[in-house]
Amino acid sequence: MRYFKNALVIYYSRSGNTRKAAQAIAERLGCDIEQIKSKVTYGMRFFGFQRALAHALLKRKPRMEPLQKNLKDYDLIIVASPVWAGTMAAPVRTFFSKYKKSIKRVAFFLTQGGTYGREDALYQMRQEVGMTPESIFVMSQKDFEKSSFEKEITLFCSDFRKESREPQKKPNSIPIEVTQTKSSSVDRELRH
Ligand SMILES: Cc1cc2nc3c(=O)[nH]c(=O)nc-3n(C[C@H](O)[C@H](O)[C@H](O)COP(=O)(O)O)c2cc1C
Repeated sequence: MRYFKNALVIYYSRSGNTRKAAQAIAERLGCDIEQIKSKVTYGMRFFGFQRALAHALLKRKPRMEPLQKNLKDYDLIIVASPVWAGTMAAPVRTFFSKYKKSIKRVAFFLTQGGTYGREDALYQMRQEVGMTPESIFVMSQKDFEKSSFEKEITLFCSDFRKESREPQKKPNSIPIEVTQTKSSSVDRELRH
């Protein structure tokens, strides 16, 4: 289980799949959401697809609008991207290069048509952000069918829990010696 105080879902979507998933995640986790707005458009016609393909293959970083949210206000950033030609969508690469310094903890969520390229995409996202993601998840086109969409989103979200704002009660009923004995016996077990 991963606990967070304040999480933000950041997504890019060309044709709507990743948006749908990102919105469902933000709703489920009760966290904020922001879209990456690329200044370069990747329209739904043939040329939009061609440009998206070329920019993914060339590892381009198209310019983006500045984010509205301050990433430093969040302890966990969930980055959602479609897979483009076995890598992340080009605007997501831009996002990482501009904002990675403000990211404390990260999780990745990918959507894709089939199964091609998911490992490469995850690897490259990890390289771009420069840290190990706390969680990774991939949804294929078939997972967007009504029957499995909710199940998949629930599965991803079940890894995370919002920390209660209530101050945690100290476990004062447990004597301190017990805790110490416990850890030293673990140490002993590890040594043997
Ligand atoms: C340029 C381009 C390249 C793509 N390359 C892949 C790919 O390598 N592997 C894959 O499984 N799907 C690929 N897809 C399909 C998308 O990843 C998939 O449809 C995704 O859910 C789209 O997300 P969106 O609706 O949020 O834009 C590609 C789509 C585009 C537009």
